[in-house]
Amino acid sequence: MASFKALLGEQVLLPIIQADTAAQGVAIAGAMQQAGIHLVEVVLRTEASIAAMQAIKAAYPNMVVGAGTVTNAEILKVAIAAGADFIITPAVSPNLLSQLCDCPVPVVPGVSNSADVLLAIEHGFTELKLFPATLSGGAAFIKAMGAVFPQVSFCPTGGISDKNKDEFLTLPNCLAVGGSWVAPSDWVESASWDKITAACAQANQALAG
Ligand code: 3PG
Repeated sequence: MASFKALLGEQVLLPIIQADTAAQGVAIAGAMQQAGIHLVEVVLRTEASIAAMQAIKAAYPNMVVGAGTVTNAEILKVAIAAGADFIITPAVSPNLLSQLCDCPVPVVPGVSNSADVLLAIEHGFTELKLFPATLSGGAAFIKAMGAVFPQVSFCPTGGISDKNKDEFLTLPNCLAVGGSWVAPSDWVESASWDKITAACAQANQALAG
């Protein structure tokens, strides 16, 4: 199975899409694609999330579209059936990690401390989300984990913005930074798609450069 890193390729921004309707999801993803983004995470937090994920995949067949906020086996099943290209969880438990072991697509379990990291490793996962990143030790935590768990790489999300993302991205064990700052709800509500494109383009340019 491909790793999450393989899906990401050169992209080091993991943009988060939260959509109230499928059409809104497609518009957000379209604005992100305009900025050269090829991989997005749709968080399963609204009634329309699954429909939005499917609509984005239909509208942009080359886009890699993952499901976030997967917290139990039932949601996992629905997300996989809907065609999620990868799975992200906000937290881990022995039960959830066991369910994730059989997942046919890359999985990025969410951890917030060193015990979580060890538990995830014990279940075979080494690409992990740190969430909520800034409240869970931030870049200093990721740096410290590098010394004891060199096989693990992190995708921090939660509290990341253009102001602090580089603290994370300069760490060798940071895969990518994730967040909603490139598509905040007020921009979505006001249909400010050009702002989303500009924020993603700016983030990508800064991340690449
Ligand atoms: C997530 O699902 O990873 C977080 O909600 C992202 O947090 P942010 O909104 O602070 O970027």
